[in-house]
Amino acid sequence: MKIIFSLIAFTLCLVFLDSCYYDKEQVLYHSGGAACTDTAGTVSYAQKVVPMLQQFCYSCHTGSFPSGNIAMGTYANDKVIAQNGKLYGTISHSSGYIPMPQGMPQLSNCQIAVIKKWVDSGIPNN
Ligand code: HEC
Repeated sequence: MKIIFSLIAFTLCLVFLDSCYYDKEQVLYHSGGAACTDTAGTVSYAQKVVPMLQQFCYSCHTGSFPSGNIAMGTYANDKVIAQNGKLYGTISHSSGYIPMPQGMPQLSNCQIAVIKKWVDSGIPNN
């Protein structure tokens, strides 16, 4: 009897999670339709990238014991994960990466595009 109850609970859980995921996709899809003016011209590390990382990442990834042993918060540190693909991989929720920011909704398509442009333009310290 216990096993059957567990199975039912597990199934309900899966269905529930699935519908949550669907809702989030819808929201993302719609927000992606907005014009993304932040990617116009050169993307500045100091003016565009840092404020975003500060808001969504630095709380867990700075200090003596950064989460996942991934240190961020200086140009040198941020450059490491930009270069090895982990920055874009985690925020774009690409397979093979742990989705970030942990415990928060995914960044908007526009915010992800800003980071991608900065990385693709050679990770300038500008
Ligand atoms: C609430 C705390 C928290 C926040 C906020 C957060 N992270 Fe993380 N991050 C973690 C933890 C914990 C791990 C280790 C996860 C694990 O090993 O299961 C991690 C792991 C990582 C990794 C390694 C993942 C991998 O696949 O190798 C990267 C890169 C990373 N975070 C980048 C970011 C970025 C970029 C942001 C902001 C967009 C961010 N994190 C926001 C807690 C956080």
